[in-house]
Amino acid sequence: MMDPVKIILDTDPGIDDAMAFFQAIGDPKIDLVGMTTIFGNVTVDIATRNAFRLANMVGREIPVARGAEQPLDWKEFSPSSHVHGDEGFGDIAPIPVIGTAHELSADAYLVDTCAKNPGEITICAIGPLTNLALALRRDPNIVNTVKRVVIMGGAFRVNGNISEHAEANIHNDPHAAAEVFAADWEIVMVGLDVTDTILCTEADFAEIKQISPNKGGFIEDMSKFYLEFYRSVDVHGGCSLHDPAAVIACAYPEWFEIVDAKIDVVLTGDKWGNTFEVPNANTTPVRVCVGVQIDTVKRHFIETFKVFD
Ligand code: BDR
Ligand code: CA
Repeated sequence: MMDPVKIILDTDPGIDDAMAFFQAIGDPKIDLVGMTTIFGNVTVDIATRNAFRLANMVGREIPVARGAEQPLDWKEFSPSSHVHGDEGFGDIAPIPVIGTAHELSADAYLVDTCAKNPGEITICAIGPLTNLALALRRDPNIVNTVKRVVIMGGAFRVNGNISEHAEANIHNDPHAAAEVFAADWEIVMVGLDVTDTILCTEADFAEIKQISPNKGGFIEDMSKFYLEFYRSVDVHGGCSLHDPAAVIACAYPEWFEIVDAKIDVVLTGDKWGNTFEVPNANTTPVRVCVGVQIDTVKRHFIETFKVFD
């Protein structure tokens, strides 16, 4: 087998971020080398605490570097408590902080880890893109040391989820997203075009719990809150497998249908956070996922839990 894909997960855990974490840990084709945290679903303090909780659950000393606490150009953001719960994991009660954050900030950690492993690190960003924009500002050469960037974010041919026009991660820091899309590195965009087509139901989470009563049970427990949110917005077929799909795309790009498009972001007005194509832009094309082998990805996600207790 080929060497596993080394990834840094840039994350705002978050219910589907927790699912993505277990995907990254359990998948034999992925080596999770570190996590960087970001505001988004929760505050960055809660995101960092939750990242340590996840690492602790699998008994791994994974470096966790604390990231930005607010968007680049705005002083305020509102955590998505109605989607992920006040503490990020639905109704699951928080536990005290376990672990000490890495001495480097998230952006510095991204720059440093890519520089020390040139051409080897995939940054898988599943929250707002602020840490990635700060890493680019800190050292523009990261575009040459990173292998590629895979993001969960954006909506290409479909509507948004946090607004009619925008997907939540891009909406929460459109300025950062614009800087990330303008940089000369390979970006794979795993947006709502694919993630909203992969729906997980109560029965799927029951299967995950049956396969893995401990870790899978933890996911099944928090999924109740998530499924309830989806029902509250009239989605009755299950919850979208957003962040795990991005992790899976890091190692199994062949399961996705991809087109190249130059992407920019709306920064003002009621369409803020909208990702749109600019065919004549002077930027590197983004590899935009527009289709996915739904059943293959979903089965892979569920069966990854077989490695856990
Ligand atoms: C994205 O927004 C967050 O709520 C999820 O964790 C995911 O990263 C989906 O739009
Ligand atoms: Ca997320």
